[in-house]
Parts: sequence; C-alpha cells; structure tokens
Amino acid sequence: MKVFVAGATGVLGRELVPQLVARGHEVVGMTRSASKQDLVRRLGARPVVADALDPDAVAQAVASAQPEVIVHQLTALSGKMSIRDARHPERSFAFTMTNRLRTEGTDHLLAAGRAVGARRFVAQSFGAFRFARTGGPVQTEADPLDPDPPGARQPGLEAILYLEEAVTTIDWGEGLALRYGGFYGPGTSTSLAPGGVMAGPIRKRRFPIVGDGGGVWSHVHIEDAAAATAIGVERGQPGIYNVVDDEPAPVREWLPVLASALGAKPPRRIPRWLGRLAAGEVATVMMTEARGASNEKAKRELGWQLRYPSWRQGFAQGLG
Ligand SMILES: NC(=O)c1ccc[n+]([C@@H]2O[C@H](COP(=O)([O-])OP(=O)(O)OC[C@H]3O[C@@H](n4cnc5c(N)ncnc54)[C@H](OP(=O)(O)O)[C@@H]3O)[C@@H](O)[C@H]2O)c1
Repeated sequence: MKVFVAGATGVLGRELVPQLVARGHEVVGMTRSASKQDLVRRLGARPVVADALDPDAVAQAVASAQPEVIVHQLTALSGKMSIRDARHPERSFAFTMTNRLRTEGTDHLLAAGRAVGARRFVAQSFGAFRFARTGGPVQTEADPLDPDPPGARQPGLEAILYLEEAVTTIDWGEGLALRYGGFYGPGTSTSLAPGGVMAGPIRKRRFPIVGDGGGVWSHVHIEDAAAATAIGVERGQPGIYNVVDDEPAPVREWLPVLASALGAKPPRRIPRWLGRLAAGEVATVMMTEARGASNEKAKRELGWQLRYPSWRQGFAQGLG
C-alpha cells in the first residue's frame, strides 16, 4: 500500500518506516526540514517537506503522495526536558507544541486524508497516566479515564483526547489511535546515548522512588511499538488500542532494574511530601498512583507479537 508517515524522522518514525518498507509498502515520509530529506531516503521512503501546522502545506504534501493510509506520529517530545517541564507541563514548549500537533496537526492531516480518499488513519496516542486512579492496577481501553487529573496535566490530556476522538470517529475511513506505553530503547529517553533524558538523572541518582513507588507504569520497546503500528496500517477495527508490554509494574520494581541496566546505583527513596516539593504534584502522582494498561486487545485483534514481552528482558537486552 501507499503509506504517508507524518513524523517519519522521529524516534518512532525511524523504526516504523523501515518496518513498513520491509512489509512491502511504498512510504512517503514527511519532515519540516529540507536537511532531513536524506534521512528519510535512508529509511527507505520518499521525503516530502511540510510544516504540520500549515494546512495548505499538509494538503499539498498528502496530495502529492496519494496515500491509502496516513500515519500520524507528530510530537515535539524528543530532546531535553527539565524538572521544570515535568512540574509544569502546561508551561513547557515541548508539551505546548505537542498539544498543537495533536489538535491542529491532527485536523490538517485528517482533512488532507479525506480530500485524497485515504481509507485508513493510524495515530500516536499515549496511554500512561491517564486512567482513573481507582480500581485495579491494570486497565483496559474500556476503563474510565481520570476524572480529576492534576491541573497542570489538563491541557495535555485534553489534546490527546481530542486526537483520539477525532481519529476514531472518521466516517470516510478507519481510524485507529494507539495508546503507547512509555517508550524505551534506542533513541528514546532511556537511551544510553547522550540525550537520554531519563537515563541521565537515573545515572546521577536524581530519579528517586517517591513514596511507596506504587504507581504502575506500562512500558513498550520502541521496536515493538513500531511493529504494532505497522500492523495497524494493515488491519484492525477502528478504535483505541493499548500498545504496551505484558508486564505493567510499579515504579519500585522496574526503576531499580532500569538503573542497574544503565550501570547506575539503586535509586534513592524519598517520602511523598518531599517528592511533591521537589518534583511537583504531576510527577508524584505518576510515581505513586498511576495505573498500568492491558495489551490484551492489541494482541488479540491485531495479532501483535512482542519481541520484548517484558521490560525485564527489554532493559537487559534492548536499551540500544
Ligand atoms: N510518547 C510520549 O508521550 C513521550 C513522553 C515523554 C517523552 N517521550 C520521549 O520523546 C520521544 C518521542 O518520540 P516521537 O517519535 O513521538 O517524537 P520525536 O522523536 O520528537 O519526533 C517527532 C516527529 O514529528 C515531526 N514534527 C514535529 N513537529 C513538526 C511540524 N511542525 N511539522 C512537521 N513535522 C513535525 C518531526 O519531524 P522533523 O523534526 O523532521 O520536522 C519528527 O519526525 C521519545 O524519545 C520518547 O521516549 C515520549
């Protein structure tokens, strides 16, 4: 099939494009920068340059590709993030820009897809830290979202919800929103290379376990996330899918294992009040109350098989 990937040069896009090409698809990859066209070519796709926030440019780029499927992987989340960003995501440039890409960017891509008669649209969503903080530790796509998230998270959560609703309710094709877990692996925030925004603080023992560390996180290796996305291009009913590994786990379990894999000493432990003071309410809730996600639906309906079914194996062998 002809597949248009917006965000072809991102952490996820760089894994996804070669997988799509290997599955026999013809891929057009969008980037903002003329200088990244060679990267897109090296990944096996034809580059097209457009700013996702410019509706005319997006319409033209999509029209030039005439795709059957559009994949939306636009975010501005790569790169340096500070403790201030975690404390006040609503003031952070990365999160504010990502919110625009998830609302305006989604609208522009959907309009362009409809105009060219595309029949499928697969978008990046995000699952972690969105579930209601009640009930069991692991939740499904059918479970309720947090009705009362920390205020600083509201704009980001609204943008993700907007994307999910806009994509999964299109009437001119099939729309899938993939709720990825926390990415790890090459190029991601756990990356061993410089720029691993989580890896740095973990190594310096500046990423402590807050309170009882009972917040449950769902991880996914970037290669597995791309594989689920490539399958979503080909099949699966419209709707939302959790794209996470088999083992949601509390911070107190996985963080020491990740620290060890990064060659760091075990994380420090700090009480909840100190966590709130140092890192803010959002990070404290993530560390103590978050719920994980079940991947049963994605495995059952997409036939997705993971190379790294657990972060235990993935942290040991797949950090890159
Ligand atoms: N998923 C999450 O919610 C989350 C949360 C925190 C941290 N992280 C970390 O952040 C990274 C996220 O990876 P990712 O693949 O989602 O994002 P990414 O690596 O930042 O890639 C973003 C993609 O969007 C494109 N893009 C951004 N703005 C654009 C615009 N205005 N017009 C056209 N294209 C635009 C970029 O293209 P060009 O630059 O080529 O134009 C790039 O291809 C990972 O390292 C992950 O560990 C993720």
